[in-house]
Amino acid sequence: MTSTRYELVVVANRLPVDLSVAEDGSTSWRRSPGGLVSALEPVMRTTHGAWIGWTGSADVEAEPFEADDMHLVPVTLSADEVADYYEGFSNDTLWPLSHDVISPPEFHRHWWDAYRRVNRRFAEAAAGLAAEGAVVWVHDYQLQLVPAMLRELRPDLRIGYFHHIPFPPLEIFAQLPWRRQVVEGLLGADLVGFQRSGDASNFIRVVRRLTDLTARGQLVSVPGKDGGAERLVRAAAFPISIDSSKFDAMARKPEVRARAAEIRADLGNPGVLLLGVDRLDYTKGIGHRIKAYGELLSEGRLAVPDAALVQVASPSRENVEAYQQLRDEVEGLVGRINGEFGQIGSAAVYYLHHSYPPEEMAALYLAADVMLVTSLRDGMNLVAKEFVAACVDDRGVLVLSEFTGAADELSGSLLVNPHDIDGLKDAIERAARMERREMRTRMRKLRRRVLTDDVTKWSDTFLAALGAGVDGHEPPVVEDAHLRLAHQPHREGPRGGQG
Ligand code: G6P
Repeated sequence: MTSTRYELVVVANRLPVDLSVAEDGSTSWRRSPGGLVSALEPVMRTTHGAWIGWTGSADVEAEPFEADDMHLVPVTLSADEVADYYEGFSNDTLWPLSHDVISPPEFHRHWWDAYRRVNRRFAEAAAGLAAEGAVVWVHDYQLQLVPAMLRELRPDLRIGYFHHIPFPPLEIFAQLPWRRQVVEGLLGADLVGFQRSGDASNFIRVVRRLTDLTARGQLVSVPGKDGGAERLVRAAAFPISIDSSKFDAMARKPEVRARAAEIRADLGNPGVLLLGVDRLDYTKGIGHRIKAYGELLSEGRLAVPDAALVQVASPSRENVEAYQQLRDEVEGLVGRINGEFGQIGSAAVYYLHHSYPPEEMAALYLAADVMLVTSLRDGMNLVAKEFVAACVDDRGVLVLSEFTGAADELSGSLLVNPHDIDGLKDAIERAARMERREMRTRMRKLRRRVLTDDVTKWSDTFLAALGAGVDGHEPPVVEDAHLRLAHQPHREGPRGGQG
């Protein structure tokens, strides 16, 4: 391992780039999926931190390398570990457990063993890279044991953890056979961040019920090891955001605006263009949205070709059975609706099972009249924020599920309960017919919020809270590192164009 040590080390399941292996064996790095990468990229670029993560492929032994001003350290996972730790415990146990058990979670002891083993590997990598007193920021449900494992190895570090997905209510979390170990893993951090205050209170309630520790408000007292000093762990909400000005700037580019016009023209210039953009995941309520749209067509409240729905469903976790089933369901539904309501030259639903680069997404957002975010449960939903940031003409309506973290912040949207299909239909119709004036008023309100509370503010706030210490006293060792992190001149990312 390298001898250089870093003041900021990010530990996440994925590196910000994925290794793509072609059929001829040649390899290249591509941007990873998901919101986490876009969220952290600006902070990492300006601090020249290190990022520890998996390459996205099994059995790849890659050397650490520099990319975009970051030191990237690949962690190797064997094919069995990908199956047991990533597809299994992370995405077939923890993911459904954290999303209202929409799909039944599976509990397998060998998945748990792999989860522990892989978490230890990440913790050891972080322990080897962090400078004395450095800040280590651990991310998301795949790595909940890392904070405690790392503290054991390196008690000098300041450890933050951020949970990007919902933290379930006690009654659901309690199903997990290893619930206590997971809570103890998280309590290794100094600061445990969540998307919503409801997630933080679920966690505090779990701590109270499943451990003997005392929790007061946001603070949990953890006794020191071998009679050492007590530590206070803070659990609080830090709602994540996006690089808003990047999307704003992209949507103002002439070539992106031209592309938006081209998309509309290719779709036959519909009167109402509805848009859905999601990973193909059962938490996103894609079926609910398409069903509601199909009923609106069937009742004549919307009609093809005046209305069109573009549904981008990017491929995700394709080896997990629940995702394979979902794909069949969604594709069956799209096929039925297109068969019934499509015409030669005009489909009812344009279904795209791909991911697209940010410029193409900005053009799609700009082209859309109505954005449909109908998640059944969602930690935040950054697509909602991207749409708002790209609506530079104050044109466009956001239909947003109450069950997203974003719903706590984005007043100005039309809030829906996606399970209530009639209510969802009414909201879609209302959005489709909304007067320009109301649309503008709502969108301006949304834009103020999204452009002010951007990802830089999120990471600065989290790192400042971590650096300041939970008890309000500056921790002596990390103070400098924290000040360097938290008081950087404004990130160049948003305006510098990351492409
Ligand atoms: C969500 C999770 C991330 C994850 C992303 C993509 O946003 O919170 O941790 O990286 O989905 O999922 P994947 O399984 O492809 O990494």
